[in-house]
Amino acid sequence: MEVVITPEASIGELVADDITALLTRKPDAVLGLATGSSPLRIYDAVAARVARGELSLAGARAFTLDEYVGLPVGDPRAYRTVIEADFVSRVDLPTELVHGPDGRAPDLAAACASYEEAIRSAGGVDLQILGIGTDGHIAFNEPGSSFASRTRVKTLTEQTRRDNARFFDGEPDLVPMHCVTQGLGTIMEARHVVLVAAGGGKAEAVHHLVEGAVSALWPATILQHHPRVTVFVDDEAASRLQLADYYRSSYARRGMVTR
Ligand code: F6R
Repeated sequence: MEVVITPEASIGELVADDITALLTRKPDAVLGLATGSSPLRIYDAVAARVARGELSLAGARAFTLDEYVGLPVGDPRAYRTVIEADFVSRVDLPTELVHGPDGRAPDLAAACASYEEAIRSAGGVDLQILGIGTDGHIAFNEPGSSFASRTRVKTLTEQTRRDNARFFDGEPDLVPMHCVTQGLGTIMEARHVVLVAAGGGKAEAVHHLVEGAVSALWPATILQHHPRVTVFVDDEAASRLQLADYYRSSYARRGMVTR
């Protein structure tokens, strides 16, 4: 796991560099997209590069991580609507090649299985963008999630419903109780995972993610078993990292040896 401690303002450009390098090497790459606040600067940076003609996503495909169960199609809080507004509508990624789990399917289990199949037949995710919940979730894999889990229905914790109430008129009770989410086992198959976190509210989760014991209580800790994870955090989100000085100095010295 590589930990990069950097001002929040630079995180977007750094991840956009990774995305640019991937698409240069593999124009038909498969991107894994997260919704929420954390990736917004990445989406701004990528959209700016596309607008300047420096980058094209025209040959790429994408899969989102999760969706609320039961929100109507087009609901402004549905993650499909959010990712369209925050990212897809601002770049040249064909909207029909952006897939998301279906939270409205009459048979949710069958829809989850076909979502897994769609990711597999696309050849798997090349670069997965992740945020992290204050309770340590990635996608909506709440504490207690199986490390082997695949796309399925989950119940959101009270903590997550409180955190996401800001999108629902500040009312945790209006946040749907259920979601469909890629599983931890699904996410672990992405070839490169890029997790971004900013602000002191994420410090405890980031501490567990990077330096804690691998535990179902902090689902993101499974990423310690992934061969290629880059964690971008600002000073506040890194404030509980015991080895912060080491991460800073090794990042400052990157490029001194060929890895
Ligand atoms: C969103 C998702 C969630 C968020 C997490 C952090 O698709 O999968 O895991 O990444 O809840 O949310 P923000 O970035 O809004 O703090």
